Amino acid sequence: MTTSKVDFSSVGWGSVEWTNLVTLYLRAHESRSRHPILGDHAAGAAVDRIDYDFKRIHRNSLPASNQYLVVLRAKQLDEWCAEFLTAHPDAVVLHLGCGLDGRAFRLAVPPSVRWFDVDQPSVIALRRRLYDETEHYRMIGSSVTDPQWLDQIPTGHPTLIVAEGLLMYLREDEVRALLQRLTDRFDSGEMHFDTLSPRAPLLSKLLTKGIIKWGIGNARELESWNPKLRFVERTSALAGYQEIDNAVVRLIFRLTSALPDYDTINRFTYSASQVGG
Ligand SMILES: C[S@@+](CC[C@H](N)C(=O)[O-])C[C@H]1O[C@@H](n2cnc3c(N)ncnc32)[C@H](O)[C@@H]1O
Repeated sequence: MTTSKVDFSSVGWGSVEWTNLVTLYLRAHESRSRHPILGDHAAGAAVDRIDYDFKRIHRNSLPASNQYLVVLRAKQLDEWCAEFLTAHPDAVVLHLGCGLDGRAFRLAVPPSVRWFDVDQPSVIALRRRLYDETEHYRMIGSSVTDPQWLDQIPTGHPTLIVAEGLLMYLREDEVRALLQRLTDRFDSGEMHFDTLSPRAPLLSKLLTKGIIKWGIGNARELESWNPKLRFVERTSALAGYQEIDNAVVRLIFRLTSALPDYDTINRFTYSASQVGG
């Protein structure tokens, strides 16, 4: 990571880049709490280096409770990711829709792993001002719906694909095409991603200008879209609520985690040999 201060004051309030600054701030804030759940010190170090009106973000982001929306999901995905990397220290990781998240720096990634963070060019441009590339860590600025970027990723290794807070922003045909391109290119590995309910796009039309495009009741259905995929498990993105130390906030998260429309995290394996198996 470069160490000099970086000026992010041009990031517009409410933009996608700003949303990423909010989630980065929430992870940093949580890392400084008395009993951190995620303990994302890389986010803390990143926020310390960024010149931005974080006081205003703090006032608007309700960190005392909203930090858990971010860290509980990230923690579960980190655990699955760590399991995969322990089993496959020669893995390739694709972290799609990475935003400013520092999963590659938060986890103890074996030195033999090759990690690719992918997001829209404007987000990656911001990321490049914060993080340096190495032989084993690269950033790719592209829409994941563009087929070209995949040409840059090596094949022949177990490949982990993590997409946190991404697929709901794509249309269903784009999700289908992306999954197909990924399983066509890579022989085997796992996919970890979260999904919203089928009602989410309609609610988003009413409440958030229709930014949510895709939802699905049970992501297990993806097995019928793509025969190389095998469902492994799914859980509420808030399933780790027991770790919240404040009893009132814990209760709110317990109730929210039981809502059928809440964000679900899904884990799949994929392999050509699974077809018909
Ligand atoms: C809600 S943010 C999540 C960021 C990060 N994964 C996290 O959890 O903090 C969604 C991210 O997906 C990215 N995104 C949305 N559509 C995309 C696309 N078609 N291609 C690449 N990235 C996309 C956005 O730029 C944004 O950074």
